[in-house]
Amino acid sequence: METLTLTRPDDCHLHLRDGPALAAVLGDTARRFARAVVMPNLSPPLTTVDAALAYRDRILEALPMGADFTPLMTLYLTEATSARQLTAAKAGGVVGVKLYPAGATTHSDAGVGRVEAVYSALETMQALDLPLLVHGEVTDPAVDVFDREAVFIDRHLAPLVARFPQLRVVLEHVTTREGVDFVRDARPGVAASITPQHLSMNRSALFEGGLRPHHYCLPILKREPHRAAVLEAAISGDARFFLGTDSAPHARGDKQSACGCAGIYSAHAGIEFYAEAFDQAGALDRLEAFAAHHGADFYLLPRNTGTLTLRRGAMAVPESLPFGDDRLIPLRAGGDVAWQVAD
Ligand code: NCD
Ligand code: ZN
Repeated sequence: METLTLTRPDDCHLHLRDGPALAAVLGDTARRFARAVVMPNLSPPLTTVDAALAYRDRILEALPMGADFTPLMTLYLTEATSARQLTAAKAGGVVGVKLYPAGATTHSDAGVGRVEAVYSALETMQALDLPLLVHGEVTDPAVDVFDREAVFIDRHLAPLVARFPQLRVVLEHVTTREGVDFVRDARPGVAASITPQHLSMNRSALFEGGLRPHHYCLPILKREPHRAAVLEAAISGDARFFLGTDSAPHARGDKQSACGCAGIYSAHAGIEFYAEAFDQAGALDRLEAFAAHHGADFYLLPRNTGTLTLRRGAMAVPESLPFGDDRLIPLRAGGDVAWQVAD
């Protein structure tokens, strides 16, 4: 197969930032994806529907001319999120509410300290049928960073999914065999998004010839058997697993630093990385469902009507991209990706 035409895909986990950074990255996503679930971890975080809808307007204003792209907005869950806010969010078209354990990742300080503290918000979300999107890592410093997802599932996610049996839940950016197994065996209404980096790299990529800050994201890359389990889930055809790039741009200087930020920018080849990984696994025929059907179905949205055509052939990735006054180092910088957008 030399070309592949898909229903236009959706990116079910995306960081777009704001201001000049937003303007710099948005075109990469809009060129490929019809819609994206946009994460609310701005500074300050989007804790109200008014803030989320104002951000939506800024995204729409920043779109390149002629782009056909719909941002799907999310709310940032705090221990103070009220039932009134959640009801307004649902009415305002917000598609999900993101739980960041406080301190787990970029701009998560306002997140949730004890998961039990948001049980009443979860009760309301369950009643509203408003999905919970989870950054599934404990922040307990006693837990090894490579074990934080598996421990979160045992300590918090499994009890939560049992306690709120109708709540739709996404384990965002699943990275472990334990995470994949949990989602595959869970009750209906539990799903996971999968990033390109967790499909194609294991933790050795953090140390390939030296310390590689541009391969650092959270949850961190895991051992090879976990990567294999995540890939196996993605290509399995199981509708619980769908595409979410977690493309998370940070300026070069913030990554190449004594205390570098977590986040990998992948939107410049946001569908191409998946095509490459599915192709290598002999599963190109499963890409469309993973990229364009499973996410839409989970979010109870109509599937997209347009198409996107990909073609086999090496696409060179620049060493860096413009990013406001700074530069952005994209995933696979200076290398190439085996598939590209045809038109
Ligand atoms: C994300 C970011 O930079 O906003 N970083 C990351 O490593 N994935 C936050 C997140 O999704 O955890
Ligand atoms: Zn993210």
